[in-house]
Amino acid sequence: MAASTSSLLAAASSSCAAISPRLARAAPAAASVPSPSRPSCPILRASSVSSHRSLFVASAAPTMQPPAESRVSTVVDVDLGDRSYPIYIGSGLLDEPDLLQSHVHGKRVLVVTNTTVAPLYLEKVTWALTHNNPNVSVDSVILPDGEKYKDMDTLMKVFDKAIESRLDRRCTFVALGGGVIGDMCGFAAAAFLRGVNFIQIPTTLMAQVDSSVGGKTGINHPLGKNMIGAFYQPQCVLVDTDTLNTLPDRELASGIAEVVKYGLIRDAPFFEWQEKNMSALLARDPSAVAYAIKRSCENKAEVVAQDEKESGLRATLNLGHTFGHAIETGLGYGAWLHGEAIAAGTVMAADMSHRLGWIDDSLYKRVVEILGESQASHCTSRDYDSGDVDKKVADGLLRLILLKGPLGSCVFTGDYDRKVLDETLHAFCDS
Ligand SMILES: NC(=O)c1ccc[n+]([C@@H]2O[C@H](COP(=O)([O-])OP(=O)(O)OC[C@H]3O[C@@H](n4cnc5c(N)ncnc54)[C@H](O)[C@@H]3O)[C@@H](O)[C@H]2O)c1
Repeated sequence: MAASTSSLLAAASSSCAAISPRLARAAPAAASVPSPSRPSCPILRASSVSSHRSLFVASAAPTMQPPAESRVSTVVDVDLGDRSYPIYIGSGLLDEPDLLQSHVHGKRVLVVTNTTVAPLYLEKVTWALTHNNPNVSVDSVILPDGEKYKDMDTLMKVFDKAIESRLDRRCTFVALGGGVIGDMCGFAAAAFLRGVNFIQIPTTLMAQVDSSVGGKTGINHPLGKNMIGAFYQPQCVLVDTDTLNTLPDRELASGIAEVVKYGLIRDAPFFEWQEKNMSALLARDPSAVAYAIKRSCENKAEVVAQDEKESGLRATLNLGHTFGHAIETGLGYGAWLHGEAIAAGTVMAADMSHRLGWIDDSLYKRVVEILGESQASHCTSRDYDSGDVDKKVADGLLRLILLKGPLGSCVFTGDYDRKVLDETLHAFCDS
């Protein structure tokens, strides 16, 4: 990576000053949610309905048909041939044992969670796994909470528990928590006995709109974020939107950075919807939150179905991440929340795109505006000096995802004027 860490990080740090928080906004009257419509992608056939009777999907995916009284309001299929799986979205899904149980393999389950989420939801999930299901036994491992524990030592605790509990290849791992737990549990499932079944139960907005979908799993290395991992798809993703009721505001705002990303890179109508409904999202309006999760999952599933292992298109999902990961690595994991770093990185990417003449003034301002609206105010630390490694360096070149053209278009490129990158970094440094 040609840019020095300190310049990247200084740039990012300054960029946050430009992203003023406005979290304490009053709740709007009601979110405007587009009426149910099928997404444009023919691969995905998700539908949103307000009644209990939901529309379900026909594809190669092992999608079960939830019963008529199910609270599942949306199913999004991730279409990956024989590794396809459904994302169930709805309120109260953890109260539906059949849904979860239908994706369990074998008689042994290991729930991987952390010290914050366990007191909130472990009992409920254990009930959902075992209700009217005496054949299944559930073990759990409760990891320390935080990005700084997304490492090899903590991962070993999962293997320790699995081996002590004498789990065999027919077991199922269940990730119960945010993106950190999902990434670690998924990686453990990929590696334990060379691969066991796993289920994602994401409980943060970040995890519900992004990290639980698509099969990227892994841990951090002190020199670089998410540097060790595997592509490993879950059996299903179960998004119970009620779990967001306990999520702190700062974490909710952090997740919105990834929602904004989908609009910017490929879904202009979704971005426009966000501009109108950001206050509703931050105020946790249930229909706004449900729509944001649904549309985000549809976008992610569509991209992953076309490019599971990130040979091209999927890289666009990393908008803001090259800068953002450098911030996280340089500042120390957990100093900024992941979404805060990504928001800052997205503003930097938009700034550079603007300097290159690839987007106009108006779009640049809209990016700053919407991320300003969504972001928290914690991005103030200047305490950085460690090195960074970013996996988006390919063949020695720093590749960036930049916005280009009208709203909803982007490029993944190493072909830009290097001076412009430096200008962006300096501009953020000096401001
Ligand atoms: N695999 C992917 O494709 C992908 C995509 C995006 C992000 N990620 C990864 O996800 C991680 C960030 O995820 P995150 O933002 O969810 O962070 P996180 O997992 O650290 O969760 C944030 C905090 O919220 C707490 N929490 C979780 N659910 C809660 C609930 N319902 N109520 C109260 N507290 C709750 C957690 O214990 C934690 O303290 C990063 O490591 C990032 O690299 C991965």
